[in-house]
Amino acid sequence: MTHHEDNDTDTEQPAPAIPDETRADGVARVLIPERDIQHEVQAIARELDGEYRDDRPLLIGVLKGAASFLVDVMKHMTIPVEIDFMAISSYGASTTSSGVVRILKDLDQEIVGRRIIIIEDIVDSGLTLQYLLDLLRRREPKDIRVVALLKKNKPNAVDVQVDRVAFEIPDEFVVGYGLDYAEIYRNLPYVAVLDPEVYSEASVKAEPE
Ligand code: PRP
Repeated sequence: MTHHEDNDTDTEQPAPAIPDETRADGVARVLIPERDIQHEVQAIARELDGEYRDDRPLLIGVLKGAASFLVDVMKHMTIPVEIDFMAISSYGASTTSSGVVRILKDLDQEIVGRRIIIIEDIVDSGLTLQYLLDLLRRREPKDIRVVALLKKNKPNAVDVQVDRVAFEIPDEFVVGYGLDYAEIYRNLPYVAVLDPEVYSEASVKAEPE
């Protein structure tokens, strides 16, 4: 693999036009390029700036997938804003969510009377979000808004509150921009569809010797 690095000069060279598609092993195709994500991130930040000007909203992210999206939205907001994170885990080892979750890390603060913005990376079955909304509503915030980067087009998903979706996507396994496969690919700056060979290789590797 050849790799060109700039030497230590301060001269600004335009980034080489490497297609997103060639950047990561195992990526079959880029579904949402980095520039499209960043465009939506900035639009969402502007919307939130306008709607929560005097309210000091609390952005809540669910670890780990939402980390990239939450931080990017936060960085583009200009009003006073707070952030907090929750970590939850599905019961059992199923790859599809059951909606029954265990709180591994709760919020650091009370949210009574606060204006809450849940920042999610992906709404798939909708069960995680449904659980989270039920949980947070019981704590009596002033209101809750849900902003999701991705929403899968799934006819059998639960009907859950999502106020703003950046991208509706087909029902495919996606990685990147926070989303993982076996904990990798979260650092990709784009959202991509994984090559099915990645799963099959992993299942071969997982076989006992
Ligand atoms: C993902 C994502 C959502 C949830 C969506 O988290 O971050 O929270 O799944 O799925 P659902 O709509 O079918 O409930 P995941 O459990 O993969 O954990 P991670 O964010 O740590 O990768």
